[in-house]
Amino acid sequence: MARDLPALYRVDDPSDIHRELALPDPPAGRPYVIVNVVSSLDGRATAHDGSAAIASRADRAVMRRIRSQVDIVLCGAGTWRRERVGAGLVTPSIGHDGAPRRAPRLAVAAGTQPLTPLDPRDTPSARPLAIVGADAPPSVRASAEAWADVAVVPGAFPDPDDILRAVGEVRHVLLEGGPRLLHAFLVRGLVDEMFVTIAPRILAGDGPRIAAGLPIDTRLVARAVYLYQSELYARYRVETVPV
Ligand SMILES: NC(=O)c1ccc[n+]([C@@H]2O[C@H](COP(=O)([O-])OP(=O)(O)OC[C@H]3O[C@@H](n4cnc5c(N)ncnc54)[C@H](OP(=O)(O)O)[C@@H]3O)[C@@H](O)[C@H]2O)c1
Repeated sequence: MARDLPALYRVDDPSDIHRELALPDPPAGRPYVIVNVVSSLDGRATAHDGSAAIASRADRAVMRRIRSQVDIVLCGAGTWRRERVGAGLVTPSIGHDGAPRRAPRLAVAAGTQPLTPLDPRDTPSARPLAIVGADAPPSVRASAEAWADVAVVPGAFPDPDDILRAVGEVRHVLLEGGPRLLHAFLVRGLVDEMFVTIAPRILAGDGPRIAAGLPIDTRLVARAVYLYQSELYARYRVETVPV
């Protein structure tokens, strides 16, 4: 039926991308989780230098708009160590509902290796949150205590359910990857929507794809697709969840 078809837009101004950005109320018992990632046409999550530098200037502007709608910006330790995730954190803004919003808080899911401090050029308004497994090496917790609040959760690797509990009573969480943490969230059925930028590039090589881990088959339903120059900006609802 027509109402089930995604909206398709061709835009000339990047500020029109994802202009319908209202996020729904969270489900009972956990925040609403959205993902924003950029992929090459062949699914690569990283450029050949290992960074996520496949993003364009327009994509970064879209990232800031999406960040302005959430309470928490979350990533895995691999992304935290590799990218300047504190850059482009939005200052307080007006949410889609017209109400003022605070800048989102940064959160990182730590694993077994120490975390690096936030880049000194980035000064978030809220102290970041480092989520650390109780069985992780002590050096992991020690690496974060100077610059983050530390939440300790069971196990060595924080489980996605525990990560969502650790971020507190918030409404909207934006997971910005990377590939392994996204895979963990998909496996647990804890992603509600995905915003995927498809860069018009084919990279081949050995770098990770946007989700990395054992085979899964998560199905998505397109809600809106924007074409800006040769980049596609797609918004998907996650429909089925692997078991
Ligand atoms: N294209 C994009 O949109 C995009 C987005 C984000 C990142 N990236 C790129 O992705 C690369 C990083 O990839 P990645 O897979 O290492 O990043 P990641 O998913 O951000 O980090 C994985 C690490 O997070 C920790 N971790 C904590 N809880 C975990 C859990 N439940 N499941 C899995 N990991 C958990 C582990 O840390 P330890 O290593 O300490 O054990 C694990 O190795 C970077 O090159 C970055 O540039 C691309």
